[in-house]
Amino acid sequence: MAGRITLTMIKPDAVAKNYTGSIVKMIGDAGFRIAAMKLMHLTPVQAARFYEVHKGKPFYEPLVAFMSSGPIVAALLEKENAIADFRELIGATNPANAAPGTVRALFATDVQRNAVHGSDSDENAIIESDFFFSGLERY
Ligand code: CDP
Ligand code: MG
Repeated sequence: MAGRITLTMIKPDAVAKNYTGSIVKMIGDAGFRIAAMKLMHLTPVQAARFYEVHKGKPFYEPLVAFMSSGPIVAALLEKENAIADFRELIGATNPANAAPGTVRALFATDVQRNAVHGSDSDENAIIESDFFFSGLERY
């Protein structure tokens, strides 16, 4: 059975361009409930840990630098079929391939600075949620 949670980050590019409100509105309009949310500036060590699964890939080190370059908004989202529905809402990793109307088509700059993160599996949604939020921060 598909899980009910996904973890998103509004990435430093989108926060810096003041797209946070527009993106949060799209998330709410798509039927996701916000169970936890925070603004924070990741250290390089924290960003490296979050993206450890990509270690060794050519984009890993620049990605870690980008993700620690300014504040992000992390949020734990709830909905039936959360992983697939959220990835549909945000569109393809490369905004050049993202469907019209998706978050990345609307707000991303390029394949690295692509506005938002979305978990890729139920297992990673749990790992990523635990990375950002304690039990006391979830409602
Ligand atoms: O975020 P998503 O799951 O769609 O893509 P990913 O393959 O898990 O890659 C994680 C992140 O690395 C992407 O969201 C991009 O920010 C970055 N990336 C990149 O800079 N260049 C690539 N060729 C692929 C990914
Ligand atoms: Mg991914």
